[in-house]
Amino acid sequence: MSEQLPLLDPPPPSNVHRDKRRRWAERRIQELRELIRLHDYYYYVEAQPRISDREYDALFHELKQLEAEFPELVTPDSPTQRVGGEPLKEFPHVQHRIPMLSLDNTYSREELREFDRRVREGLGGQPYRYVAELKYDGVSVSLHYREGTFVLGASRGDGYTGDDITQNLRTIRSLPLRVQPVEYHGVPLRTFEVRGEVYLLTEDFLRLNREREQAGERPFANPRNLAAGTLKLLDPREVAKRPLRLVCYYLLTDEVELQFQSENLRLLRQMGFPTDPHWKVCDTLEEVFAYVDYWEEAREQLPFQIDGIVLKVDSLRQQQQLGTVARAPRWAIAYKYEAKKATTVLEGITLQVGRTGKVTPVAELKPVFLAGSTISRATLHNADYITKLDLRIGDTVIVEKGGEVIPKIVGVVLEKRPPQAQPYRFPTVCPCPNRQQLYRPPGEVDYYCDHPECPWQIRRRIEHFASRRAMDIEGMGERVVDQLVSAGFLRNIADIYELHRHRAQLLELERWGEKSVDNLLSAIEESKSRPYHRLLFALGIRFVGEETAKILAESFPSMDQLAAASIEELTAIHGVGERIAESVFRFFRDENNRAILERLRRAGLRFAAEAPKVRLQAGFFLGKTFVLTGELSTMTREEARRAIEARGGRVTDSVSRRTDYLIVGRNPGSKLRKARELGVRELSEDDFLRLLDQNPVE
Ligand code: IVH
Repeated sequence: MSEQLPLLDPPPPSNVHRDKRRRWAERRIQELRELIRLHDYYYYVEAQPRISDREYDALFHELKQLEAEFPELVTPDSPTQRVGGEPLKEFPHVQHRIPMLSLDNTYSREELREFDRRVREGLGGQPYRYVAELKYDGVSVSLHYREGTFVLGASRGDGYTGDDITQNLRTIRSLPLRVQPVEYHGVPLRTFEVRGEVYLLTEDFLRLNREREQAGERPFANPRNLAAGTLKLLDPREVAKRPLRLVCYYLLTDEVELQFQSENLRLLRQMGFPTDPHWKVCDTLEEVFAYVDYWEEAREQLPFQIDGIVLKVDSLRQQQQLGTVARAPRWAIAYKYEAKKATTVLEGITLQVGRTGKVTPVAELKPVFLAGSTISRATLHNADYITKLDLRIGDTVIVEKGGEVIPKIVGVVLEKRPPQAQPYRFPTVCPCPNRQQLYRPPGEVDYYCDHPECPWQIRRRIEHFASRRAMDIEGMGERVVDQLVSAGFLRNIADIYELHRHRAQLLELERWGEKSVDNLLSAIEESKSRPYHRLLFALGIRFVGEETAKILAESFPSMDQLAAASIEELTAIHGVGERIAESVFRFFRDENNRAILERLRRAGLRFAAEAPKVRLQAGFFLGKTFVLTGELSTMTREEARRAIEARGGRVTDSVSRRTDYLIVGRNPGSKLRKARELGVRELSEDDFLRLLDQNPVE
C-alpha cells in the first residue's frame, strides 16, 4: 500500500444533508481504519514507522471524531475500540483446547546434548533440524481468531484452564484485532489460535516504575511482574495506560495441516502478528551452541528482556512423533541464561528518606562492572532484607543482574567475611538533623520518619515539585535543591516563589553569580504558567501520579472544586479508587498544606484548567450560555448579546457553573477570576468573531 495518506473526495461540510455526509463518512472511516492498522503494523511488527506520531494521532483523531458523529458506524474491530467495556468483577475461566505446556529448562550444554540424543533416538534415524528462538521473559497468552477477527484471549493459568482476559489484550496496540487472510497452499487461514508472550520494553518498565515511585506506589520487581500484574487488572482502561507489547511464536489451526515451525513464524508475520526476527534454523547442535553463545552476550543490547533461548524441532510431524511427557513436550527445550553475577565489597549502608518519609537502606558498594554498567549502589529494600541475608559491612557480597534489570544483592561470600564484622543494626533514628525516632507502622516492613520538617523529605518534595514532568523549573536539580535547603532558603515548595526576595543573599552562596541566580529566578517565574494538572502532580499528593492528576483535573477543573470534593465525589470518578480518594481528601484537610496552597495561589500559579481549544462547528451558539467581561473593540455589549441570542445562545450577567463560555474583552473584571476558578472556558474577541462568521444567522 502507498505511504501517502489517500484522501477521498474532500469532506462535505457538516451542514450538508446528513445522508450524503454519512455516505462519505462511511468510506472515510473504512479508509482510516485500514490506514491505522497498516501503520500499527509498520510500527509494531516491522519496527519501522512510516509516519510521525503526530500524523498517526491525526488519523486516529479523525476516526474518533467521525465515529462520534456517526455512532452507528462503530464496529468492535475499529482501532478506537481497543479500550472498551466496563471493569469486570472477575475474569471468566476458559479451558484451553490444547494445553499450554511449559518447557523443560536447562542451564548446561551437556543437557542440551542429551536432549538432542533423545530427539535423535525418538526419530529413529530420520534427518531433522531445529529452530532456535529467543525466550522472551514475559507472560504467555493464547489468542483465538474466528473468521479473521480476534474473539478471545486467555492467560495460561494452570496450563489447562486460564482466565478470559480478552478485554485487556485488546488494548495491546500490536495485537491485530482483524487479520487479512493469508493463504497456505491455497487455503485461506481465518480461524486459528496464536500463542505468544506479553512483555514490556525495558525502558518502559523503568519509566513506569519511576512514575509509580513518584506517586508513592510500590515499584514492580521486574518487567515480567509488571506485565503479569497488568494483565490481571480488572479495568481495561488501566491496562491501556501501560505500554504492553506482544510477540507471537505459535500457530494452531484445523483449517490446514501446517508443516514447519519456521514456516509458521513466517506465516504469523505475513498475517500481521508481531514475531521476533532473530530466530534461526539450525542444522546441527554446533549451530545451536553458536546461537546460544551469541545471544548470551548480545542480549544486553536488546531493548527487552530474554531469559534464554527456546529450541524446537522444526518439523511439526516430527514434533508429533516425539510427543509429550508429563507436562513438557519432548520436541522442545529452554536453555536458560544464568543471571550475571559479580562479587564486590559492601562498604557501607546508607539510609535514603523518600518524599513520604519512607526510609530505604542502600548498599554502598565498591564499584564493580556487571552486564554493561558499573554498579556502586544497590537497594536493600528494608530492614528485613538485610537481616535475612545477614549482611555485614565489610562483607564480600554477590551482586546479580538478571531479568530484574535492577541490580540486587543476593548473597554473602562467608569465607571472605572479616573476623571483626558485626551484624548490622538498623538505625533507630532518621539521618536528618532532627534525629527523629523512626517509626514502623504495624504490619508494614518499612520504617518512616514522620518529622514534619525532616529536611530529607523536604528535599525530595521540592525536587519532585521542580522536576521536568512536574513544574519543570530548569536548573533546580538535586544539587541546587540540596544547597538551598541546607542554606535555609527553602523549607517548603511555596518558598520557591519567594526566592526572588533574597536575590542579594543568594548571590553570596558558593558557586552562584548574577547570571546563574537570574536564570534560576526567571525559570521559577516561567514555571508559574504550567497547567493546573501539572501543579496537581507536582504537589506530591500520595498516589497522585501524572495520569491521576490529569483525571482529577478533568473532573474538578479548579483547585477549589477539588479541595471541596468529598470522598464519595472523588471515588465516583473513573480511575480514582478509595486509596487515592482518601489521600486527596486528607491532603486538602491539612492546615499546613492549605497554607502552602494559599501562598502558591497568591504567587500566581494556575489553580484552574485552561479553556480547551474551541471547536469550530455549526450551531455553536445553540443552547449555550455566555457571559461577557471587559470591552469588545468591534461592538458594544448589547450588540454582542443580540448576535448571540440571534444564534440561539443565552447571555447572563454572572459566571456560574452553568456558564459555558466567558467572552473576554479588554480590561476584564473579576468575572475572569471567577471563571478560571470554576474552570469555565474562555473565548477571546477574535474567537468570538470567527464563531459569529462561521455561524451566520439563517
Ligand atoms: S514455546 C510447548 N517459544 O516460555 C511450547 N515459549 O517455559 C511452549 N516463551 O510458557 C512454548 N518465548 O511463556 C515458546 N519463543 C518462545 C518463547 C516461549 C518465551 C515462554 C512461554 C512459555 C515458557 C516455557
